[in-house]
Amino acid sequence: MTAPDPLDRSSTIAVVGTGTMGQGIAQVALAAGHHVRLYDAAPGRAVLAEQAITERFDRLVEKGRLDAAARDAARARLAPAEELGELAGAELVIEAILEDLGAKQQLFTALETVVGGDCLLATNTSSLSVTAVGAALRRPGRFLGLHFFNPAPLLPLVEVVSGAATDEAAATAAYETMVAWGKTPVRCTDTPGFIVNRVARPFYAEAFRLLEEGVADPATIDAVLRECGGFRMGPFELTDLIGQDVNEAVTRSVWESFFQDPKFTPSLAQRRLVEAGRLGRKSGRGWYAYDGAARPEPRTAELEKAPAEVTVRPGGQGPAAVLPELIAEAGIEVVEGAPDGAFDGCIELPGGGLLCLADGDLATAFGDDRVQFDLALDYRAATRIALAPSDTARPETVQAAIGLLQALGKKVSVIDDTPGLIVARTVAMLVDFAADAVAKGVASPDDIDIAMRLGVNYPLGPLQWGELLGADWVCDFLKLMHTTHPTGRYAPSHLLIRRAASQERLL
Ligand SMILES: NC(=O)c1ccc[n+]([C@@H]2O[C@H](COP(=O)([O-])OP(=O)(O)OC[C@H]3O[C@@H](n4cnc5c(N)ncnc54)[C@H](O)[C@@H]3O)[C@@H](O)[C@H]2O)c1
Repeated sequence: MTAPDPLDRSSTIAVVGTGTMGQGIAQVALAAGHHVRLYDAAPGRAVLAEQAITERFDRLVEKGRLDAAARDAARARLAPAEELGELAGAELVIEAILEDLGAKQQLFTALETVVGGDCLLATNTSSLSVTAVGAALRRPGRFLGLHFFNPAPLLPLVEVVSGAATDEAAATAAYETMVAWGKTPVRCTDTPGFIVNRVARPFYAEAFRLLEEGVADPATIDAVLRECGGFRMGPFELTDLIGQDVNEAVTRSVWESFFQDPKFTPSLAQRRLVEAGRLGRKSGRGWYAYDGAARPEPRTAELEKAPAEVTVRPGGQGPAAVLPELIAEAGIEVVEGAPDGAFDGCIELPGGGLLCLADGDLATAFGDDRVQFDLALDYRAATRIALAPSDTARPETVQAAIGLLQALGKKVSVIDDTPGLIVARTVAMLVDFAADAVAKGVASPDDIDIAMRLGVNYPLGPLQWGELLGADWVCDFLKLMHTTHPTGRYAPSHLLIRRAASQERLL
């Protein structure tokens, strides 16, 4: 069987299916110095792909990113194939045909009769089981998933997926080859959604639930996740870009593959959007309209007067520990609460109202004069913070809480009372999903964090984030979420419970 070394540069890579992904993957293999053969079932499509790839190399030359000699050499190494039999000399075949199990199985069964015994066979499927795609092969040990991200020439992440029958040597050889191609591969087992599409589900689902619960509108939720959570895009604008049909199909496929586990339940609001043909940018309308109308503004509170003094109650502010320092820097007097007073880490406003970090429970559950504030990736850098007043909060308390955060230079979005607010709820779920993937042996903690940073641009890997927050904080938070929503969705994963109890690291 294949030695666990990267493929030799002189070896030939075959790409089957020469649409969006196939062309990108072929470009990457060519740039790495390989000979590349292109095959597509649609007549003439491989020749068109050859032209498209050549034009991309021409543009790189025009931009001064490639010299003409390298372009000419790459062009000479690229050739379309008219018949599958012409791929006989390939040492790695990467399939990027339509996402259909039967079609992929049929293709690989045919390929197996064509290629040599040492040839690696890889599928670029994003949602099918790699094990199922390779199930019909006589020698499934050399078969694996190589999941590139679009656009493949630009995005470094590749998930190297081992199916149930994949030989370790084949996965290692594929991994080393991706390193040699300048990619950042991560290893994972054959789980629904692999790493990125599995762990990222709550980023979308929690936002859609907040909308369904009437807590806030899309523009506000997006703005809070960007400006307070540090995410590059909010879930509503991001799914409009991806396509609601594409995003929902991934969610549904992962949910079905997990036997309808409530952790992965799709969103009814998104379903209706897809049914209405509001697919996002490509259809001119999704959560937002793309007909030239201005994007709705996030809900932002009017300017309020800041209190002159606040009292910081003992107990520690947890992940918001820097807040008293920021308040003092804003010129507001910070008084240390009496050690014999209440020990809840809240900030006491003039008049006795409380400003407390979201803890996974409703603000109203405390039955007092309280406002909860959201988790920030970095309270100093955050430009917006969400607040949720309890039903029993006095208007003066809400005004003082708004004024206090505005004095720190933050915009404030007041949302309806909800367990976990926006960022805290989303991040706690991402940490939990990542911890669950570690516990189930999907991938190493480091690979999960790399995949989420590179695959979906998260500002921190979820496990690193969980480490900063503390497994005990995340676990307690989710336990409280679970008491208000006892569907199992928010029940913390057993690894999170263990790490919280043992104080061991998540990473
Ligand atoms: N587009 C993405 O963002 C993305 C990202 C990662 C993975 N993927 C996966 O990559 C694969 C391809 O996606 P795409 O977006 O490039 O699709 P695409 O529609 O752009 O291209 C598919 C190509 O495969 C050809 N084809 C179909 N059946 C074939 C067969 N039996 N034999 C040979 N060629 C065949 C089609 O003619 C077409 O040219 C899918 O499995 C998809 O899930 C897509």
